Amino acid sequence: MILDDLNIIHLPVMKNEILDILKPDRAGSLMVDCTLGEGGHSFAFLDQYQDLKLVCLDADSSIMDIAKRRLSVFGVRATFYNTWYNSFFANYPAELERPDIILFDLGISVFHYKASGRGFSFSRDEKLDMRLNSNLEISAYDIVNSYPEEDLANLIYLYGEERYSRRIASAIVNARKLEPIEMSAKLADIIYHSVPHAYRNGYIHPATRSFQALRIAVNGELERVKSALEDAYSVLKPSGKIGVITFHSLEDRIVKHFFKDIEAKVKVNKNKYAKVPETQQPYIEIITKKPLLATDQECRDNPPSRSAKFRAAIKVRELDI
Ligand SMILES: C[S@@+](CC[C@H](N)C(=O)[O-])C[C@H]1O[C@@H](n2cnc3c(N)ncnc32)[C@H](O)[C@@H]1O
Repeated sequence: MILDDLNIIHLPVMKNEILDILKPDRAGSLMVDCTLGEGGHSFAFLDQYQDLKLVCLDADSSIMDIAKRRLSVFGVRATFYNTWYNSFFANYPAELERPDIILFDLGISVFHYKASGRGFSFSRDEKLDMRLNSNLEISAYDIVNSYPEEDLANLIYLYGEERYSRRIASAIVNARKLEPIEMSAKLADIIYHSVPHAYRNGYIHPATRSFQALRIAVNGELERVKSALEDAYSVLKPSGKIGVITFHSLEDRIVKHFFKDIEAKVKVNKNKYAKVPETQQPYIEIITKKPLLATDQECRDNPPSRSAKFRAAIKVRELDI
């Protein structure tokens, strides 16, 4: 086992379970880690499976720099692309062979909340930005300070599943009439005072869902997941495995339906004794009938893992219908 970097702040979720489920089936397999982050899963796979090669993606170059340093001990076994995963799979590089394993660990990293300085966290006072890549034109500041009230409310409702979205949007619009809302702590304070008293002392901070909604909107997260899953699945080799870790119900719904829709594409022969023609064999084998959750111990040791769900599938054959 290779000694790991002690300055890393994000712990890879369900690491051992995922190492096992996505275990390479052949020597020299190629894996794409679509969400490298600080490289926790990549490190574990490279360390455990000595002849595995990894292609590592991240939209954020600053976190990728941390992972590059961490994974440098593995030399040429890891290569890096600073890109959005949906763009990567839509234009899969000609120089690469098709992957045997694909992993998505959706959302953002503890690094983004605690060390990026980009206003992802309501418990810090940072400039509202939330862009994973500075090439994006619209930041959280732009949305908060310029969206019409109704659009703001819809965004907070749809991407945050926030039941007080209308009250929150109205409070934001009133506050920004006085002066622009520039900082994360100020936004959190406006949200806190806009919701009923009982909601202020709930299980989560009242700004949690609105901050999630803004981040999802700024980075186009849900649209990217949908298109990336489709293109990644076509690029994946037949017999290859794909796994996705999600952190909220909006993402999990997309992944669940993506797998189920492929499963439904085959006509099952009702006569169980008849030989099933190849065209009627399934396209996908869903490995996790129910999503895998972190153990109680992991939830205690690594609180962000409490909301994680892992779904995985094998691509049985080329999806050609
Ligand atoms: C949950 S973290 C991954 C953590 C990583 N598995 C680890 O163990 O360190 C998700 C990472 O995906 C990146 N990311 C999010 N959406 C992305 C996208 N559409 N394309 C590429 N990277 C993305 C984020 O910048 C973040 O670093």
